[in-house]
Formats: sequence, C-alpha cells, structure tokens
Amino acid sequence: MEHYTSDHIQQALAPRTMRFYPQADSTNDLAAEWLAQGASEGAVVITNEQLKGRGRLGRSWYTPPDTALILSIILRPSIAALPRITMLGAVAISEMLEQIGATDVRIKWPNDVLLAGGKVCGVLPEAVWNGDRLQGVVLGMGINVRIDFSETDLVRKAVSIEPIMNQSLDRVELLTILLKRIDYWSKHLEEETLFDAWKVRLKTLGESVRIEQNGQLIAGVAEAVDSLGALLVRDADGAIQRVLAGDVLFIDEA
Ligand code: BTN
Repeated sequence: MEHYTSDHIQQALAPRTMRFYPQADSTNDLAAEWLAQGASEGAVVITNEQLKGRGRLGRSWYTPPDTALILSIILRPSIAALPRITMLGAVAISEMLEQIGATDVRIKWPNDVLLAGGKVCGVLPEAVWNGDRLQGVVLGMGINVRIDFSETDLVRKAVSIEPIMNQSLDRVELLTILLKRIDYWSKHLEEETLFDAWKVRLKTLGESVRIEQNGQLIAGVAEAVDSLGALLVRDADGAIQRVLAGDVLFIDEA
C-alpha cells in the first residue's frame, strides 16, 4: 500500500528540503517562488494532484490525484550549463525507469522519455532570472505512473509505467531513485558523460522531423545533435539547420 503523504515522503528524502502539497496549481510556479526566496539547490516541490500544470509550448498538463509523480526541483547551474538541464531531466528519468527493470526506454528529442514507444513523462525546465542574473532553474517533471489514458485524446500517445511494466509501484521509491539520479547529474552537468548518456538513448536521429523555429518551418532529416543538445537537421536544400531545444514549437511524429 502506497503512503504518499508529506511525512512519509519527507522521511524518505531526508535531509533534503521539500514541500509537499496534496493539491497544487503548478509545482513549477511554487518552486519558482521558493527559488526567488532563496531555496537551496536540490529543494523539491511535490504534489499529488496538479490542477493547472503547464506543459511545453503553452499547453496545459493536468494530472489526476494519486496517479503520477509530479515534482519540480530547484537547480542552480551556471548560465553556460543551462542547455544541459534538458538532457539531465530526460537522462535521470530514463535511468529511474531502467533501475526498476524497464528495457524499452528511449528519448525523443529534446526531452520526452518514451517507454515502449509511448510518452511516459513531460519535462519542463524553466530558468528564473533577475535582470541578466540567473537565479536558478526549476526543473518540472510529470511522470505517468498509473494515469488511465483510455478515455482521453492522449490514448495513442501517452503511457503509464504500471500497465506497461505490469507491476504496482510505490511513488516514494520512484522519487527516491529519480532524485538520486538528478543529484548525480547536477554535479556532472558539463561533462561529456551526460551528453553520451542522453545521446545513446536518443531515438530521433535519422528520422524525418518538422520543427517550427522563430516562425519558420524546418523540415528535413535529423542528422546529429551537438553537445548543447541542439538538433542538426538537413533540410530539402541539403543545408544543415541547427535547432535549439528552447526554440522548438513542435516536432512531428513523422
Ligand atoms: C511537456 O509538455 O511535455 C512538459 C510537461 C511538464 C509537466 C510538469 S508536471 C510538474 C511541473 N509543473 C508544471 O506546471 N509543469 C511541470
């Protein structure tokens, strides 16, 4: 029986600073406020139900109660290492899945983790600035543990871990594994090993992609990635276009 309560989570994560909310609008917003008030690196905001979760590209991200890992962790990277946060999120979630025995784990550029081909999580890193000074980053993650997508529009795209792996999971255990991997990679953010761990799981290379960047559509074949996580796309004219994760509006399931 899973005990997803503040006390239980706090005990499991000690001595980490954490805030647990049975219900929240958006953990990213709560973490951004906390960051601005001086929260330390590694402090984490967790909720059991998110009402106004934000996804990429201005989309919403609703999560029903008791079904997912919903968290935002505060990191304090250098400005130079900012693009690496996207990699960190996807790699840490992939490793958590592999540690519990998942075998078919891939990353869809830039940071969607796919389990058995379906999207199992959403990752939303958001930098918090004070003028041109970086205060820190909020790394938001929503991981589908047991969301039933059968009656939703997402049924063909999204998956949850429990039904795919055919086992019951304890979200506190998942959280513990995940945060250890985040802690590890946040200490190795600028190292080649993070890039390698991301690239080796990347499914997008060799695929046809369509990406909108600064109002311009880029269509072509994803040929490579560089160490800042940008995708190098060969377009119809044979030219290489460099697409930064932050600029991407969509990438098609080609
Ligand atoms: C995506 O669109 O793929 C990213 C979704 C990110 C959702 C997570 S859930 C925790 C955190 N709080 C939010 O409001 N969004 C992120």
